[in-house]
Amino acid sequence: MNALTRDLVRLVKMVEDGTENTGRFRQRFHLMPPVGWLNDPNGLCQFGGIYHAFFQYSPFDPEGGVKMWGHYISTDMAGWEYEGVSLYPDQPFDCHGVYSGCAFIEDGEMYLYYTGNVKLEDREDYDYINTGREANTVLVTSRDGIHFGAKKELMSNTDYPSDLSLHVRDPKVWKEGNVYYMIQGARTKEDVGQAIIFTSADKVNWTFKSRISTAEPFGYMWECPDYFEADGIKVLSASVQGLKGEVWEERNVYQSGYFTVAGDLCGEYALSEYCLWDYGFDYYAPQSFETDDGRRIMIAWMGMPDCKEYTNPTIADGWQHCFTFPREIYVKDGILCQRPVRELKMRERKIQSVKVLYGTEAFELEGYQTYDLAVSGITENAFRAVLGQELILEYQNGRFEMRFDNQDKASVSAGRGIRHVEVEKITDVRILADISSVEVFVNGGEYVLTTRYYPEKTHVRVEAKEAGIEAREILC
Ligand code: FRU
Repeated sequence: MNALTRDLVRLVKMVEDGTENTGRFRQRFHLMPPVGWLNDPNGLCQFGGIYHAFFQYSPFDPEGGVKMWGHYISTDMAGWEYEGVSLYPDQPFDCHGVYSGCAFIEDGEMYLYYTGNVKLEDREDYDYINTGREANTVLVTSRDGIHFGAKKELMSNTDYPSDLSLHVRDPKVWKEGNVYYMIQGARTKEDVGQAIIFTSADKVNWTFKSRISTAEPFGYMWECPDYFEADGIKVLSASVQGLKGEVWEERNVYQSGYFTVAGDLCGEYALSEYCLWDYGFDYYAPQSFETDDGRRIMIAWMGMPDCKEYTNPTIADGWQHCFTFPREIYVKDGILCQRPVRELKMRERKIQSVKVLYGTEAFELEGYQTYDLAVSGITENAFRAVLGQELILEYQNGRFEMRFDNQDKASVSAGRGIRHVEVEKITDVRILADISSVEVFVNGGEYVLTTRYYPEKTHVRVEAKEAGIEAREILC
């Protein structure tokens, strides 16, 4: 441990220990920072039976700062235990941030790959895109998932293709046959977003192999790329910055979605249209991993970078942001869908199960802050729900909408307005509500909409003719 690490350990402990009351909007079953700021999920894995989730963490300021990796563990992905900070920005190659990365597990060893961010000292001629910054690929390993060895710098910008800007980051590693693959997000010098792939025979020495891009430029930067197969479908996920015009004007400032890949990712391939993972307000930088029982789990940051439109009042309580609840990726009729991990059921208690008959009153629930509400068998393409008397979920004219009546920054929405997704026919809706977040799964999770919200009331009202409704309280 060097002198800087020693001081950082002390400082983080001081600020974490000094945090008692973090306010009434703390979540119950979503992973949050103990104090300060959280963004991307990193190093997600199951290791020795335990789930590990690291996160981009700036404990000193709820509005962000130099990033380190905070660490949580869990046995069921619903209750998380804080393990402290695992990786501090304490080396010349990562001194301005231990940026995002992944975990790769093999032979009882956890390999963490991440981007060491370096911003050279302020100079007027630096634009911090093509000059003035370093993005280093770093490896650190552990045999118990708690104690980590020395960091090893594996690659630097000169090891990446020369037509790329200095924005190359967020390694994700997997293995096929005897070959290890690493995908990273990139921005070219011409401001085109891409993903680049490296291969290795030993997990340490990496060679540039190929790149993935769209026929026409698609955004200026791809962050946090991920690649996996689900039921034979090859999925390339990327968080894309710089999409403009048309439909993008009605969406978030940055997007997280996926292409399906036909052919060979490292050779001849064709990418599908880009589909969003989530159509709500707060969703970015998802990362996936495979559980021991073969499920593909995805967790995202329930937040949005560089978003001026809306905010989070938890800043006043000294913290900001959380993760989405872990979702299983599954394939239904050839379509990728998402659902909350099944472990959640173990923490639920049934409140009510009813059928809302034609012509009768709506279903109403009062007094619950954390619930899982499933509406199935929706008829006549008609659905409407109002949560906390402020957040409206409504299907009309071929669109499923998530909207707030009051878009004031001081209101329940904290400035959020409206998001939507085109849906031909609505069959079922599942609403997962925590103290200050709502995740809505439409049609078995074919479409998902996620938002933070800051309700003053607990009232829930659902209108859905002849649908079956099951309401469960989540006890965490
Ligand atoms: C995505 C991202 C990553 C980067 C990290 C820094 O939100 O910008 O590309 O590694 O956050 O915190």
